[in-house]
Amino acid sequence: MDLINQNTNATNIRALKANKMINTSATFWFLVAVIGQWLFAYYIAIFYGGSAIEGDFVKWTKRMIHGFIDGDYMGNAFVLLHILLAFIITFGGPIQFIPMIQKRFPLLHRINGRAYIFTAIVISLGGLYMVWSREALVGGFSGQVAISGNAILIIVFSVITIRTAIRKNFVAHRRWAFRTFLVVSGVWFFRIGFGLWIFLNNGSAPGSTQDLTGPFDMFLYWGDYLLPLLFLELYLFAKEKGSMLGKYMMSVLLFILTLLTGAGIFMAAQIFWIPNL
Ligand code: HEM
Repeated sequence: MDLINQNTNATNIRALKANKMINTSATFWFLVAVIGQWLFAYYIAIFYGGSAIEGDFVKWTKRMIHGFIDGDYMGNAFVLLHILLAFIITFGGPIQFIPMIQKRFPLLHRINGRAYIFTAIVISLGGLYMVWSREALVGGFSGQVAISGNAILIIVFSVITIRTAIRKNFVAHRRWAFRTFLVVSGVWFFRIGFGLWIFLNNGSAPGSTQDLTGPFDMFLYWGDYLLPLLFLELYLFAKEKGSMLGKYMMSVLLFILTLLTGAGIFMAAQIFWIPNL
């Protein structure tokens, strides 16, 4: 009897360790991602916010694909709104997932959550308008379709996230909130994905062209939101239904993904953000 109890205890301890490891590695990835997202938010605030305060909107146009186009009042208004919302969503998004805030400040979680979902839907609708009303100077038609797919998923996932919260189905709500966060982060993943590719290729970007229509560019246009979603599903499966070995394997994968994310952030900051500050 004692032997059976000892074996059960040992198995329970191993199961606890596997659970702890998968949770720790997910938290580790999230912390690195938050640093990267707030760096992006900082760049948006300082570069776009700073030049707006100086009244120098030419800087915006030089930095963007089209920026402000003479006579395109609607498109230009969406550009302004896009940048304002880009800051709000990139800064406010990670706050939703901090457990301490969820538990100790539920009102802040609810208000920030509603603002996040509203911002996600409006930025996507505005983005769709900008993509289809203006010439595809980068990415071509395939790029337009890929980023539109991202926008549609953001809208659909946002609606499901808010509906599961209203129905108090908190297990489903957490899952959909994670999915929404990852698709909203698609444009951020695009930038760090590019940075990572340059890092892995020692300063060059094979498969990428000036107008972002190369094979690597196309892979990144789709992969920047579909790959994170795939990894999230693997993680959720391993965490909830996976065997002990599955949990350990997922933890190792998350650890590798954290290193890759960190390298991507480091390079994106060097290439896209810091030189413009
Ligand atoms: C949801 C999170 C999003 C964030 C944080 C975001 C952020 C940004 C930022 C910062 C820029 C300026 C370029 C730069 O300095 O890097 C930009 C430009 C742009 N974004 Fe987004 N974006 C998001 C979603 C989208 C979506 C879903 C679409 C399309 C459906 C979109 C379409 C565009 C377009 C077309 C431009 C270039 C505008 C122009 O120059 O004509 N964005 N975005």
